[in-house]
Amino acid sequence: MKRSKIHTLLQSTHPSDQVLIEGWVRTRRDSKDFSFIEINDGSCLKNIQVIVQSSLPNYDDIQKLTTGSAVAVSGALVTSQGKGQFWEIQASDVAIISLASESYPLQKKRHSDEFLRTIAHLRPRTNKYGAVFRIRSELSYAIHRFFRDQGFYYIHTPIITGSDCEGAGEMFRVTTLDPQHPLSNGHAFDISRDFFGKEASLTVSGQLSAEMFALALGDVYTFGPTFRAENSNTRRHAAEFWMIEPEMAFCNLSGNMDMGEAFIRYLIDHALCNCSEDMELFGKFVDPSLMATLNHILSSEFVRLPYREAVSILSAASQSFEYPVTFGTDLQSEHEKFLTDVYFKRPVILYDYPKSIKPFYMRVNDDQQTVAAMDILAPGIGEIIGGSQREERLEVLEARMDETGMNKAGYEWYLDSRRYGSVPHSGFGMGFERLIMMITGITNIRDVIPFPRTPGNIEF
Ligand code: 4AD
Ligand code: MG
Repeated sequence: MKRSKIHTLLQSTHPSDQVLIEGWVRTRRDSKDFSFIEINDGSCLKNIQVIVQSSLPNYDDIQKLTTGSAVAVSGALVTSQGKGQFWEIQASDVAIISLASESYPLQKKRHSDEFLRTIAHLRPRTNKYGAVFRIRSELSYAIHRFFRDQGFYYIHTPIITGSDCEGAGEMFRVTTLDPQHPLSNGHAFDISRDFFGKEASLTVSGQLSAEMFALALGDVYTFGPTFRAENSNTRRHAAEFWMIEPEMAFCNLSGNMDMGEAFIRYLIDHALCNCSEDMELFGKFVDPSLMATLNHILSSEFVRLPYREAVSILSAASQSFEYPVTFGTDLQSEHEKFLTDVYFKRPVILYDYPKSIKPFYMRVNDDQQTVAAMDILAPGIGEIIGGSQREERLEVLEARMDETGMNKAGYEWYLDSRRYGSVPHSGFGMGFERLIMMITGITNIRDVIPFPRTPGNIEF
């Protein structure tokens, strides 16, 4: 007999005599001559109802099935007489694969997100988290499709690296030396005896590598795990997250903004069209204004605003902020929120930031004060994309590296790209989790990552 996913069965157009499903018991309810079992196999939000006649030889055991138990059910797919479902299965056989202990923590009531974080290994079995992780999967596919359809190539940039792309020093060290016995001859930690013979870290961005490939293959992107040792316990930061980084040769800042805006729209549209059942759950149970917000983002043009003008707007705002805003300070989330949620009420692309608060690789503008950076801020989320046009002029780039205190020695390979056929090019990074937060309405990054890593938290 052919095994089916519940997702496929529920879309059947005809009844069928012979179906087989495998899944987990959500609920069981017994009546006089039969038992109703609701089964979920994770393929979709919906359960399928199974009717088990008391004449089945193992009916006594079936009546002992607890929530969470695993079963394989074969039988006939028939139209349901009951309310709330179109199809159900009349079981001819129920094989009990394993009984879940009575202590199964996911009984029928609703649990708090905080509690479910403590059982992150079981939470994908709930309706909400099942939906989150199905959407995460679907959006990964959509991202590849978006770029592939436009002729981008997917590059696997290294995870272990020697370069600090963002220059913020928030890197996790990679070493095989035992900190207690660092194999040092003297007292100092002897890096030359370490695995790579020099300092190595987990990547904070694949950008520098992606740039080398953009200058060879044209339009490329990376999509992979990214690590930041920022000691900030916020709802939007994780120590391990996934980032999508397109890099485009012969592209300026405005082309970069166009791409970022189109990318966000495409992904929202994809989720609404392809994940409607799961999206409905978020609109109902997570954020009642979600659908309106997403449709509004789809239908409105993103604001494009120079940083300098944002500072004027914020300084003139009647609202008072915890942190003052002046030209040259980084905007805090309260400022971003004001711009997207209060002032413009739609996504905002801020650009031309002061060079003093941005990394070395961003192209210096003619005013010598600002760089061709752009951040896309989304309502309710804040920064979802950070990007820039890159500095393609060798002398300017070298001067910026000196200015920002970087050791050029490790970056000769990067500088080579400005020696041999340098061209204007641009790119950005989108935080994958921030995207999922925007699309699901979930407000804590810990709830869109299977096993989140944040300061002090490496469970599971
Ligand atoms: O703005 P960021 O730091 O930009 C870069 O890393 C560039 N090198 C990207 C590029 O131009 N290729 O990070 C990009 C995005 C942010 O806008 C945010 O969405 C996300 O990555 N991000 C995080 N997401 C979760 N947890 C963190 N700790 C994050 N830090 C950044
Ligand atoms: Mg940023």
